[in-house]
Amino acid sequence: MDILIRKDYNEMSKTAAGFIAQLVQSKPDCVLGLATGSTPIGTYRELIRCHREEGLDFSQVTTFNLDEYLGLGVHLDQPYSLDQSYARFMYEELIKHINIKKENTHVPDGLAKDPGKFCQEYEAAIKDAGGIDLQLLGIGGDGHWAFNEPGSSLGSRTRVQALMKQTLDDNYESFYAKAGFERKNMPHFAITMGVGTILEARNILMIANGLKKADVVAQGIEGPVTAQITASAIQLHSGGITVVLDEDAASKL
Ligand code: GLP
Repeated sequence: MDILIRKDYNEMSKTAAGFIAQLVQSKPDCVLGLATGSTPIGTYRELIRCHREEGLDFSQVTTFNLDEYLGLGVHLDQPYSLDQSYARFMYEELIKHINIKKENTHVPDGLAKDPGKFCQEYEAAIKDAGGIDLQLLGIGGDGHWAFNEPGSSLGSRTRVQALMKQTLDDNYESFYAKAGFERKNMPHFAITMGVGTILEARNILMIANGLKKADVVAQGIEGPVTAQITASAIQLHSGGITVVLDEDAASKL
């Protein structure tokens, strides 16, 4: 496992984007696993810069996102509306700014009529695309990957998961509160790739910043592998693992 410590969020973001850009250059038809949350926004901004200023070409890239709130989703051809879906987040923060083909971008469908069936189809679509070359991940305040809350099996697959109080609180503060969304209206369930699904990615790139993440980062990387901190499954991965942290997030290592 390579652990890279950078002085601040900007440097962390540039380093992480550098890994993704390198892959896109060396394998133009690569499959990227993408993440949401406040952590990857800087990474996406740097990728957009690489596209605009250096011509980084996403025309053959395919993406699969980790998760989506159940009950939220978006049809990207509709005009902008206040919509806290992860599909909208990805569209606004990355997809609409780069030359990726919309049909090659995948976010779990929180509006699926049969979510259980959808989860199986999502797994099949990842396999059909040849598997994920590089999975970008943040880490939740309770140590989760995607929405694999504490107690999720480390062999879990894409499924519907109930969200725990800490995640609802964290995500309300960082995301919903800003949009004027009421806490009681937050979705309490999500579709998430499983830990087992994530571990099948050929390479893992985990990023974290800020003092708030220092404890869970240390537990995930150096502590026991446990379903209570699903990001600790990173220690089970046998391929390329890179963790990029700012100094604050690395302060308890
Ligand atoms: C959500 C997402 C995770 C993300 C986490 C941390 O729970 N499902 O994929 O890692 O938030 O978000 P942030 O980067 O805002 O701390």
